[in-house]
Amino acid sequence: MSKGFAPAKINLTLHVTGRRPDGYHLLDSLVAFASIGDTVSARVADKLSLSVSGPMAAGVPEDSSNLVWRAAEWLGGLRGAVLELEKHLPAASGIGGGSSDAAAAIRLLSELWTVDLPSASETASLGADLPVCLDPRPRRMQGVGERLSDPLVLPPTEIVLVNPGVQVETPAVFRVLDRADNDAMPDDLPAWADETALAEWLHTQRNDLQVPACNLRPEIGEVLTELDLMAPLIARMSGSGATCFALFPDGSGAAETACDKLSRAHPEWWCRAGRLL
Ligand code: C5P
Repeated sequence: MSKGFAPAKINLTLHVTGRRPDGYHLLDSLVAFASIGDTVSARVADKLSLSVSGPMAAGVPEDSSNLVWRAAEWLGGLRGAVLELEKHLPAASGIGGGSSDAAAAIRLLSELWTVDLPSASETASLGADLPVCLDPRPRRMQGVGERLSDPLVLPPTEIVLVNPGVQVETPAVFRVLDRADNDAMPDDLPAWADETALAEWLHTQRNDLQVPACNLRPEIGEVLTELDLMAPLIARMSGSGATCFALFPDGSGAAETACDKLSRAHPEWWCRAGRLL
């Protein structure tokens, strides 16, 4: 089996700057990836099959309703493969799990089937987060997710991800968003000297979906309050939630410590420590 990593996608910022006539929202987001993620394995076979295992496999479909399956069909038509997905990330939780899995499957299968790797924007029809996940490196993401900057360099940073165990439907969060015409990020992003400078700058930016998501799901506010007690460089929600992240100084071990404390205090929460990729 060929094996690929599907890292969690983190929206370090998420500005909602407009709304298209078709209802999709225009975004301006600084996207990064974490060393925490799922794994996808694949080998060529006569027909397509998918099995899902791992600690977060419950409820994840093993048929064509899974984005991994749809991505494989989209890429290869009638080509076959045995696909195995090991789920470590909670589903529908704002960290792009399904999109990252599908992107990892596309990377693996394009090699195994010797099919050209599609361009990022070509994958947008599969989902707004697919393009940025196709080559998972830090980028500015605009449009509805299809406009990507060249890869950016972020300082080495520790990260904790926390999900309170509630699923949030992305369209529901967009529906309760008060206004869609918020400021974009500045045209030119700074070059951050270190993780403290990155976090200081992040504090001047926003996730416009955080307040509406907290209104829908107060558990998200609880997670953010508890994360703030761990004295991170910054704590914020990713995507449309409910997963929140907190950044800590590189090499401090503070992410692991915070994760241990939160896991003990809230055994029902999903907490993982790692680093930004
Ligand atoms: O494309 P994806 O399946 O990730 O989007 C899920 C839903 O989130 C869309 O149907 C839409 O309601 C909302 N969305 C949006 N604007 C975006 C991305 C997603 O309104 N840029």
